[in-house]
Amino acid sequence: MEEINHVKKAFTELAPSYSSTMDKELNQFWGISYPKFVERLVNLAAVKPGEKVLDIATGTAVIPIKLISTNHQQERVVGLDITPAMLQNGREVIARHGGKNTIDLVCASAMDMPFGCGIFDVIICGLGTHHMNVPNMLLEAKRLLTKNGRLIISDVGATPFWRSLTGKLLIRLLMLEYGFINQSARSHAELEAFQNVRTAKEWSALLKEFGYEKVHIDEIKPRLPWFPSGLTLQAEITG
Ligand SMILES: C[S@@+](CC[C@H](N)C(=O)[O-])C[C@H]1O[C@@H](n2cnc3c(N)ncnc32)[C@H](O)[C@@H]1O
Repeated sequence: MEEINHVKKAFTELAPSYSSTMDKELNQFWGISYPKFVERLVNLAAVKPGEKVLDIATGTAVIPIKLISTNHQQERVVGLDITPAMLQNGREVIARHGGKNTIDLVCASAMDMPFGCGIFDVIICGLGTHHMNVPNMLLEAKRLLTKNGRLIISDVGATPFWRSLTGKLLIRLLMLEYGFINQSARSHAELEAFQNVRTAKEWSALLKEFGYEKVHIDEIKPRLPWFPSGLTLQAEITG
């Protein structure tokens, strides 16, 4: 609960400058812009007309907006997030884009989502899992997916260097420095999120353990060894 409060405080403060901050950070880590990151994720999701989509940790609804503007036959997209200020910012952008009737924004935690079982064909989560209890989120996503439903996650990941002795020591030092210099709700939330940053191999094992199949992971290499990599995970529920 304490963890979630830090996250909400961090994203309430970040909401007005969210897109520009992401643009700066993604360029710094991976050399790609935030719009490019969103475009890549939406292309990977390859949503077909009529499919029901849930975007977990939707934030300012950039992913649903991109989905609707890319796929004009898209009927409905639901975006869920725990921070009201992020959703409010999203609502204002949606109103300007005229997507009011096609995007529903729901304020709730990904740990306990207010939807019935087996109702989404596609679940997306961009840059959100590192703030969550990931096993809990994977169980909830599995409950909500239809048979053959797809999960697409894109988030920061750990590289094998992070797991080496030198890497562990260096990352710990950098985290201490980051926490000391940036005493903000955001830095608090990011430091807490550190335990959820997994390597591609660790993600693959976790997804399989939770019953996901056809697991496919792509990695964007970080620009410096101690930066996080960019992981894109695709998996299906076939049973
Ligand atoms: C970095 S933003 C990602 C926003 C958007 N998906 C994107 O790709 O730009 C992370 C979001 O995760 C949300 N979040 C964190 N923990 C959550 C949880 N347990 N349930 C729902 N949303 C959560 C935060 O409120 C924040 O809006």
